[in-house]
Amino acid sequence: MQPYLPPSLRNFTPQYMAFSTWVDHLPFGYDIVAAVRPQLLVELGTQHGTSFFCFCQSMAENNIDGLCYAVDTWAGDEHTGEYDNTIFETVQQHARKNHASISYLMRMLFNDALNHFSDESIDLVHIDGLHTYEAVSEDFHNWYPKVKPGGVILFHDIQARMMDFGAWKFWEEIAPQYNSFTFKQGFGLGVLRKAGGAELTHPLLKMLFEGDAGTHEALRAFYAHASKFHELKRKVARQERHQQQKKQQQLDNAEKLAPSHQQPQ
Ligand SMILES: C[S@@+](CC[C@H](N)C(=O)[O-])C[C@H]1O[C@@H](n2cnc3c(N)ncnc32)[C@H](O)[C@@H]1O
Repeated sequence: MQPYLPPSLRNFTPQYMAFSTWVDHLPFGYDIVAAVRPQLLVELGTQHGTSFFCFCQSMAENNIDGLCYAVDTWAGDEHTGEYDNTIFETVQQHARKNHASISYLMRMLFNDALNHFSDESIDLVHIDGLHTYEAVSEDFHNWYPKVKPGGVILFHDIQARMMDFGAWKFWEEIAPQYNSFTFKQGFGLGVLRKAGGAELTHPLLKMLFEGDAGTHEALRAFYAHASKFHELKRKVARQERHQQQKKQQQLDNAEKLAPSHQQPQ
């Protein structure tokens, strides 16, 4: 197997962060886009945009000539709860400012977006809408025909076992039927490859879909560490910002307390 230096290790600092359990998968999200080099990427469920903008950033920084579509009502669902329009406005602003030429926001139901895509046209789909068994199953079966042979489908939240989440159950059923790989950190991420397509040559794809048990364990350990490393970097940056604000506050207070300098008459 070829040696592999993940691009997330070399040059990735997330440009965009919002509250999301997707933070545990950012380095992998960045690397899988760099490996697949999608001409067409579709995300089902974007909300604040944490995963979507990680994909867009990877497209830009790895010089990938492709388009990224985000499909969401931006109204929320039974698991996220309803939310107001400010979330969509923030996502739209960031997309326009940073990824105008490659990103498209489709504010509609997943089922209404289906007709906008031809069969076997999508290289990478991310399924992250409502997480009941029925919803994930419907999203997968509706969108699978749209994926190119050899294309990749990501499933978020396959380890989450709260409320009526059922992505885990669907994943348990579907994963053994395909070439697939399971990340267990955070709320889990499933990676599935549609049958067909060209022979795998990229080292990350080979490790994911053709690697042995040892390689798979190493890959899981690497991305669990990578996401912890990013979390730590964010924590240090937050502490530094806090220290700087505190220092500035002290300087402002000292200035207010100092006797004012009078001009000599
Ligand atoms: C878990 S959030 C997405 C999280 C996001 N990927 C991230 O990085 O944090 C799920 C989103 O899917 C959207 N959604 C759920 N079902 C949908 C449907 N059938 N059509 C359109 N949007 C849907 C919700 O509005 C919500 O914003």
